[in-house]
Amino acid sequence: MPQRVPGVIAPGKGEAVRVETVVVPDPGPGEALVRVQACGVCHTDLHYREGGISRDFPFLLGHEAAGVVEEVGAGVTDVAPGDFVILNWRAVCGRCRACLRGRPWYCFDTRNAAAKMTLADGTELSPALGIGAFIEKTVVAAGQCTKVDPAAAPAVAGLLGCGVMAGLGAALNTAPVVRGDTVAVIGCGGVGGAAVLGARLAGASKIIAVDLDQRKLDSARKVGATHTVDAGQGRVVAAIRELTGGVGADVVIDAVGSPQTYEQAFYARDLAGTVVLVGVPAPKARLDLPLLDVFGRGGALKSSWYGDCLPSRDFPMLIDLYLQGRLDLDPFVSETIALDGVEEAFAKMHRGDVLRSVVVW
Ligand SMILES: NC(=O)c1ccc[n+]([C@@H]2O[C@H](COP(=O)([O-])OP(=O)(O)OC[C@H]3O[C@@H](n4cnc5c(N)ncnc54)[C@H](O)[C@@H]3O)[C@@H](O)[C@H]2O)c1
Ligand SMILES: [Zn+2]
Ligand SMILES: [Zn+2]
Repeated sequence: MPQRVPGVIAPGKGEAVRVETVVVPDPGPGEALVRVQACGVCHTDLHYREGGISRDFPFLLGHEAAGVVEEVGAGVTDVAPGDFVILNWRAVCGRCRACLRGRPWYCFDTRNAAAKMTLADGTELSPALGIGAFIEKTVVAAGQCTKVDPAAAPAVAGLLGCGVMAGLGAALNTAPVVRGDTVAVIGCGGVGGAAVLGARLAGASKIIAVDLDQRKLDSARKVGATHTVDAGQGRVVAAIRELTGGVGADVVIDAVGSPQTYEQAFYARDLAGTVVLVGVPAPKARLDLPLLDVFGRGGALKSSWYGDCLPSRDFPMLIDLYLQGRLDLDPFVSETIALDGVEEAFAKMHRGDVLRSVVVW
């Protein structure tokens, strides 16, 4: 029987989000109905609301979530009712050219539910990142549910569903940072802060946090930054070089994604070093670099989608490290809010007041 539950809808480009009744169908074959317990507010939800990702309004926002499986459709064997899961937007297909080559974290054909959630009048909703989790219950592909230890609080576990995983993975998977590396992270919101945490976990010898906002530099210190650079002073490249013996960092992670920060990352890295772009650039952003420098400085220029994570491999492992006290995810939950607080949470994010506001039920 379809259920009617409140969810957060982005009705049109630039319009404020609002809570509306959503009709949630039964899970179809290969699908699961999940009772959402927590869902973080990510910058990408705001990108959706502003029409920066697609024009398929209305959206059902929210995609950084954890909850309990309530019901599964035909043929589902990997998860069962009662399982505590983190929702992921990388349910790998196992059949595309990336999967077949043993690199499923690049899967080019990830799975989403075919069953459609609608408004009361039947209008189909587009779930953000194929999830849609600012809602009491959501239907996803079963592969989008990754079982983890239920000892972790939902508000913390859900963080791994998007931004925090993206930052951790940019350091741990994409770069990857290895023991002894020097690392700089430009932009230390939820994503960049998690990149700092990932660099610490990997054993970086020096971690330089760069941000315009002093509060973000303070929170980056709490999760492992050894040095901070106030980007508002200019001189970002020079400051990173000074802190690394004049040569630049082995790995520079750009968690802003503007042409300016990318260029800083490019020149703040040592010869043969690595740049990781994890911030999402604006659609019209362009890059202009001397090709001779791209060649001459060597190394690697990489992009990181979702931290190159493989949910089945990374989520349970990271939750275990968290529960052992070896991965401090707690500082990323700045506040917990109710479902009707998402619009206000966007404003707080915009002002830089929070790392993550998390809706809890
Ligand atoms: N690659 C992925 O898979 C993935 C996943 C989730 C989010 N993201 C993207 O990552 C980016 C960061 O997300 P977030 O949630 O951390 O956002 P956020 O707004 O919390 O953090 C951005 C931070 O960058 C700082 N900043 C802005 N301009 C700067 C500059 N010129 N120099 C230094 N610092 C600057 C801000 O002060 C802020 O602290 C966004 O573009 C988001 O869409 C990417
Ligand atoms: Zn695949
Ligand atoms: Zn996100």
